[in-house]
Amino acid sequence: MIGVSVLGYGNIGSGVAQILRENADCIKKSAGEDVTVLHVCDLREFPGDPCEAILTHDASEAIHDPAVQIVVETMGGVHPAYEFVKDALTSGRHVATSNKELVAACGTELIALAKEKHVNFFFEASVGGGIPIIRPLTSSIVSDHVRRIEGILNGTTNYMLFRMQESSLSFEAALKEAQDLGFAERNPAADIEGADACRKIAILCSLAFGQPLAYTRVPTEGITGVTPEDFVYAEKMGCTVKLLATGRQTEDGVSVRVAPVLLPLSHPLAGIRGVTNAVLVEGDMCGTLTFTGAGAGKLPTASAVCADIVEAVRHPQTTVIRGWEGEELPLADAGEETHSFFVRLADIVEMSAFAEYAEQVFAGVIEGEAACVTAPLTEEAFAALCKEAPVISYLRVA
Ligand code: HSE
Repeated sequence: MIGVSVLGYGNIGSGVAQILRENADCIKKSAGEDVTVLHVCDLREFPGDPCEAILTHDASEAIHDPAVQIVVETMGGVHPAYEFVKDALTSGRHVATSNKELVAACGTELIALAKEKHVNFFFEASVGGGIPIIRPLTSSIVSDHVRRIEGILNGTTNYMLFRMQESSLSFEAALKEAQDLGFAERNPAADIEGADACRKIAILCSLAFGQPLAYTRVPTEGITGVTPEDFVYAEKMGCTVKLLATGRQTEDGVSVRVAPVLLPLSHPLAGIRGVTNAVLVEGDMCGTLTFTGAGAGKLPTASAVCADIVEAVRHPQTTVIRGWEGEELPLADAGEETHSFFVRLADIVEMSAFAEYAEQVFAGVIEGEAACVTAPLTEEAFAALCKEAPVISYLRVA
């Protein structure tokens, strides 16, 4: 029997316990052994819960029980998750986590520690919820140079954008719906301001390109500036609006960004709706692959954690994920990159600042305003033009 301790008995942690209980038969078949939750650790009480009898408030007790070989960390946040995970790995236990903040902030150190201790630090659920993407990147797409990795990595914002497009909901109404459905972070700022997607693309780029990418180096914009009107123009252009996280290999290094973009409907990620996430990987040999599925939610995310548990049982003494190591990933100079921008302006007269650069102009689509798509501009050049005109909103064109 393999003993598991679950640190953090919230949505995902309780989902892990539920899956290990309800799918015990197929987990035994996959792992070759019974896998049993021996402790759940949380500061709260859970009267009447199936795990009430194994609840502890003492993480050390849950980690150091000699019968526990695998520690699941589903607490979220960097501290004290980091201290607990470090303790578990140091004591020779495998760890499976869903915690993207932890992986993005401390992944390099924890991966190295796991290697040193010949155990595993697994984090499939940290990106893309229930979508298998970490394992394909570490086990399948390993004979390719990855040219590009991009994704819709935040379910809350994808749901919100979808609802703003589909039902012309305001930003606030769309956010409330996403929160009511349980997709959003405790503090939804991490979703709507792009921080969640930023951490996830930093993890994916680190894996895909084999060197650490600190999430603080990823230029990040959220969707707080996106309006239902943007979708009216998007439709006219045969596009939609998505919060896209990208990492592309260029001659000058990797170009990374998280930002809302106008995405042509022909793009493989344009049709990704609702809370669904998707990741596109382009390798020099395998071509373009896309992975889609539920990016948030209790059971899909917990399912990915349980898959990591099974993988740990299958590899008791071998570190499976080599992860990333070495120097920080060399990035292309974001200031040198150019993008076409879609800009809404308060009046056609005010277009003059953009006139020289406008490749496509829209007048009368929405009363009292005008819009244009610019030729490719650097961020600095675009910011300078914005100072000369009453910009209502803007988006980069993918
Ligand atoms: N708040 C996150 C999302 C949860 O909406 O995608 C999954 O990481």
